[in-house]
Amino acid sequence: MPNTVIIGAQWGDEGKGKIVDLLSRQSQVIVRFQGGNNAGHTISVAGKKTILHLIPSGILHPSAVCYIGNGVVLDPFVFIEELTTLASSGIDVSPKRLGISAKTQLILPYHKILDQAREGLRNKDKIGTTGRGIGPCYEDKAARIGLRASDLQDKDLVLRKIVRALSEKNILFTHLYGLNAIDPEQCAKEILELAPKILPYVTDVEAHLAAAEAQGQNILFEGAQGIHLDIDHGTYPFVTSSNTVAANAATGTGIGPKRLHNILGIVKAYTTRVGAGAFPTELSDQYGQMLQSAGHEFGATTGRPRRCGWLDTVILRASARLNDLTSIALTKLDVLRGFPKIKICTAYEYNGSRLEYPPQKEGSLFLVKPIYEEVEGFTEDITNMQNYNALPSTVKRYIERIEELIGVPIAYISVGPDREQTIVR
Ligand code: IMP
Repeated sequence: MPNTVIIGAQWGDEGKGKIVDLLSRQSQVIVRFQGGNNAGHTISVAGKKTILHLIPSGILHPSAVCYIGNGVVLDPFVFIEELTTLASSGIDVSPKRLGISAKTQLILPYHKILDQAREGLRNKDKIGTTGRGIGPCYEDKAARIGLRASDLQDKDLVLRKIVRALSEKNILFTHLYGLNAIDPEQCAKEILELAPKILPYVTDVEAHLAAAEAQGQNILFEGAQGIHLDIDHGTYPFVTSSNTVAANAATGTGIGPKRLHNILGIVKAYTTRVGAGAFPTELSDQYGQMLQSAGHEFGATTGRPRRCGWLDTVILRASARLNDLTSIALTKLDVLRGFPKIKICTAYEYNGSRLEYPPQKEGSLFLVKPIYEEVEGFTEDITNMQNYNALPSTVKRYIERIEELIGVPIAYISVGPDREQTIVR
């Protein structure tokens, strides 16, 4: 069975959770490879909603084993909270079903404080981070002063690393941000109190993935955020702090790139973005509001309203190229019901030229003008349709036009929040 990487092809919140959940039925192993609890996956099963920020959504399938890869940044407090919530819903979250890579970096309270203090001081150039400490944790990883999951075995090492990290950060807290210094001993104590609950999960994820492969099992790599929030390829600097592209599924879990067989891009039938940054097809009129309310476009992590706009196939073409997308899952198609016309951005106008791909220079995406074509809208209720042929011809035309414009087949069509409301083509 081929392995599959699932990534969001826009700016996040494409509905990855539902598709991961759907494909988890066929996967024995599910692994996250980047990001942290800045993600929020909402899964709806038989009308019951579960939101997970850190633990792979595959945990809801009793036969799946889930891992948190080395590329993830893990907040130990949030991990324990999610364990408790899942366990109270009767889900088996024992270490035989869930593991954390020994190399996973830990988000510590001072990362969150730094994230929020920095954003607080920014004026017009706020990134609109989730405030979960994601960026500062990745910074410490790159600065080689991060605390990793396996360090929790060694009390002295934990204290030494925290003293080292706070020797710089406390100067920033007290001198730049007007905050109190953090006591390293107290901080180490709080983390070490959690260690007995976390250490049973700390394991060699690479070895488990290699063993799964050797047994012919099938691995699902669960991406978070979206391609245009990638630290290198996204709309820098309005991006997250990790690589969200599919290639990072290899680096972020410790598997060779030849093991990434299928790359499934999740595309919402329109576009949304949370936080700051360019958004060429953003709608500030009543249609934007219609998308926001019909699509319940409020962040699963921060509750912030998402900015909404028409589908942008320019950024999707870039996503197809950056990830070598093999297929697409088109989500939330039902939300477009009732719009008299639906617009698709096919290209940009920039400095008098027509662009098929986003311009590369920082900030240039703020300056492009979307070029649109229109297709007919639809009024039919499609939420119970199970078969592609049953869809109204206007809907099929929209789907097929998107395929033509991006050059990637649409394999799944989601017509409602529930697992069952999915057309497999
Ligand atoms: P950070 O990842 O918290 O540092 O936030 C950086 C940017 O990425 C902000 O614009 C966030 O709104 C955005 N972001 C982070 N995680 C997600 C997500 O899961 N969905 C959508 N946007 C996200």
